[in-house]
Amino acid sequence: MTQQKSFSSNLGAIMAAVGSAVGLGNIWRFPYTCGKYGGGAFLIVYICFVFLIGSVLMMSEFVIGRRAQHTPIKAFPALRPDRKGWGLVGLLGIVTSFFILSQYLVLSGWTTGYIWESLSGSLAALGTSAAPISNYFSQFSTGTKPILFLVIFALLGLFIVLGGVQKGIENVSKVLMPVLVVLILVLCVRSLTLPGAVKGVEYLFSPDFSKLTGEGILAALGQALFSLSVGMGIMLVYGSYIPVNDNIFKTAMWITVCDTLIAILAGVAIFPAVFSCGFDPAGGPGLVFCVLPNVFNTMGGAGQVFSTIFFILLMVAALTSAISLLEALTATLCEHTGTRRGIGAGIVFLLTTLLGVVFSLSVGPLSHIKLAGYTLFDFVDRLNSIYLPPLCALLTVIFLGWVMPETEVLDEFTNHGTVGRRFYGVFRFVARYVAPVALIVVMVSGILS
Ligand code: PHE
Repeated sequence: MTQQKSFSSNLGAIMAAVGSAVGLGNIWRFPYTCGKYGGGAFLIVYICFVFLIGSVLMMSEFVIGRRAQHTPIKAFPALRPDRKGWGLVGLLGIVTSFFILSQYLVLSGWTTGYIWESLSGSLAALGTSAAPISNYFSQFSTGTKPILFLVIFALLGLFIVLGGVQKGIENVSKVLMPVLVVLILVLCVRSLTLPGAVKGVEYLFSPDFSKLTGEGILAALGQALFSLSVGMGIMLVYGSYIPVNDNIFKTAMWITVCDTLIAILAGVAIFPAVFSCGFDPAGGPGLVFCVLPNVFNTMGGAGQVFSTIFFILLMVAALTSAISLLEALTATLCEHTGTRRGIGAGIVFLLTTLLGVVFSLSVGPLSHIKLAGYTLFDFVDRLNSIYLPPLCALLTVIFLGWVMPETEVLDEFTNHGTVGRRFYGVFRFVARYVAPVALIVVMVSGILS
């Protein structure tokens, strides 16, 4: 069954895909990962990966998705009917998306909960010493309260997806993405005008290569793929919705640039404030939930306003990413089973929410259950951020570069020879040689280190 769905315009496609790309990865994970692995040193490697591998992967997924007009499991074999086994790559992507969404819901639930905690004044009441704030977060995250917020968040996502590709996803992204940019700029201005802010800027941008280990390079790759939402078939599904006349190269470049700028802006919004208020920048995953509330509290009354703005920003970013995962899973389920969209979305919502609840509990009451020494939550976090996307990404570029008939790649990339010819050669070269080699080297060395 071919899909009838598509975005209404190039702008709509870009907004929806930027919505998918910009998420917790940019605002929650990027700043602390960048800080951990050497600031500017990490940033340089990250930017290379984003543009060299990430953007080419995005273009590859767009080419495959738009050409095949199928969801991932059917898309690969549709382009090479004699190689049905490639459907497994689509399956791997979909399974990865399923785990990512379930885990994403946990973090999104915390974020949604923290909007409430901030608005209600509970965070402000904790004062400015570190211990009560981190205790508050560990009590919050290990309790059952986040489950309520997780469900509220997932329901919001479900309603948007039920609205459809254009009226739901595209329209919501067109409104929320500009809101997000305004919110983040407000925070950047506040952060940069605090006394001593310059130290935070230095921390973010001045390179410390001694901290950039093999693990750091692998983390940069994982982060680049995760942040662009590539390597799991999401962009393949969005690619199948891109209008036929849109230039794939330009579209992917816009998305890549916006995603990277927003990650950097998130760092600029966070680190100067952290330094100015004298906190430890290497706060790790707890940076936004433990360190930032503390930073906001040192700002007095206005701090509560900024804190609420910050958590709304994080929630908006998470929501437009979560809907892309929900959409891809729903579209795949519907294509395979022929169920109605509403029912398909409902099933995906139920399954991912249930698994999300299990992951949420694995932070608290179920933390004694361990896989390879990690709690379930940390285990999937590692799988989602380091292992599965690079593997799926590798197989995707190999398919595009070596398995899919070249005439079709060229035809789709250049809209039947009318656009983007100049960049085709570079695109193909990177997809065939550079990206696979880089992916293999980084994966192998990261795993061995
Ligand atoms: N790109 C999103 C982020 O940065 C996460 C995501 C990954 C969304 C994969 C969809 C698919 O947070």
